[in-house]
Amino acid sequence: MNDKKLRYGLIGAGSNAERKHLNNYMTLPNVELAAICDVNIENAQRLAQKYNIPKVYSNYEDMLKNEELDLVSVCTPNFLHAEISIYALEKGVNVHCEKPLAINALEAQKIVEAKIKSGKQVMVGLNNRFTNEAVYLKKYIDAGYLGDIYQVKAGWIRRSGIPGRGTWFTNKDCAGGGVMIDLGVHYLDLALYLIGMPEPSYVTGAIHQNFSHTTTRNRNGYKGNPNGIFNVEDTAIGFIGLQNGATVNFEFSWASNIEQDKTFVEILGTKGGVSLINGELKLHSELLDTCVDISPILNPNIKLKNEFEHFTNCILSGEELIAPAEHGVYMMNIIDHFYKAAYKQKPVIFENSKDNILLFSSSF
Ligand SMILES: NC(=O)c1ccc[n+]([C@@H]2O[C@H](COP(=O)([O-])OP(=O)(O)OC[C@H]3O[C@@H](n4cnc5c(N)ncnc54)[C@H](O)[C@@H]3O)[C@@H](O)[C@H]2O)c1
Repeated sequence: MNDKKLRYGLIGAGSNAERKHLNNYMTLPNVELAAICDVNIENAQRLAQKYNIPKVYSNYEDMLKNEELDLVSVCTPNFLHAEISIYALEKGVNVHCEKPLAINALEAQKIVEAKIKSGKQVMVGLNNRFTNEAVYLKKYIDAGYLGDIYQVKAGWIRRSGIPGRGTWFTNKDCAGGGVMIDLGVHYLDLALYLIGMPEPSYVTGAIHQNFSHTTTRNRNGYKGNPNGIFNVEDTAIGFIGLQNGATVNFEFSWASNIEQDKTFVEILGTKGGVSLINGELKLHSELLDTCVDISPILNPNIKLKNEFEHFTNCILSGEELIAPAEHGVYMMNIIDHFYKAAYKQKPVIFENSKDNILLFSSSF
């Protein structure tokens, strides 16, 4: 292992940047927090002071021109992910970009092209792939314990979980969509990643917007903007047919009249099934002609791949990325087709999903 210190820069000094990226990159001995940038310079200054980051910028181009950086985190609103990631790659900097990789598959694909040209790495911030449960499930499924997988369910439903009514999250131009592009990219991604990201054949579904008028459904701690735009869906429901014959149904909502929030991935196969419901992992099968449920006792001390250390290892020693940019294109292609189906109220076929990236744009 190379012992070079990587010079790190952060772009977009908001809540996720601090909670996730800075708190993790600061713990890595081979990373030097070198620079931070936010158009709102006060956000950048506050974090620079707290985390002892020497250089502060209000413009990411200036930061990338002036600093010799090895990697950056891109933690801005979604519509800037492609523009900033591509610029960083052109400057020869590796990119850890938050989810979604971009606001549509075309932009995501441009990031992949810039990555290939630069010879650098791009990882999407898909933290749910790195949990103890997800790592165990991936191994279990890859080992064939489920038999033939025929059905997958994925979802994340909240009672009051709008990430700030009237903020950039509810503005289609800034976010690219609503709950589907916010929570869907986490749990639909996890489900499809676990089963090996098969090619989709068709998708259908619906989107609803029922909570745009109220601030009472904001997520705890998230301030809304009463005058802000809300032109995206707060609920997304869909069904995907995969080319291998398996099916996927999913449900995502920021707000709904349910008793409790819930996250779920359930994968059903001919020999067994698995469920990860609100973080609780169970295996379902048969033993001695009897149905059994197994609760694996995962070793809490197991050395898991940490998303941040993993990315530095990928940069320094060529370790294979767990969440490469190409996976972001796959997901955004599915989401683009889903939105088209939902707006047109009819199923949409993936003509040739690898080559046919759809650009579809509409809003409430
Ligand atoms: N992986 C996760 O679990 C997770 C969780 C939350 C958010 N996210 C993602 O992280 C990203 C940021 O979300 P957030 O909740 O931190 O939002 P936020 O609004 O708290 O922060 C965004 C920051 O970007 C700054 N910004 C805007 N334009 C900029 C520009 N041109 N240059 C530099 N900075 C700019 C804003 O001033 C703000 O400080 C989003 O893409 C979101 O989807 C991921």
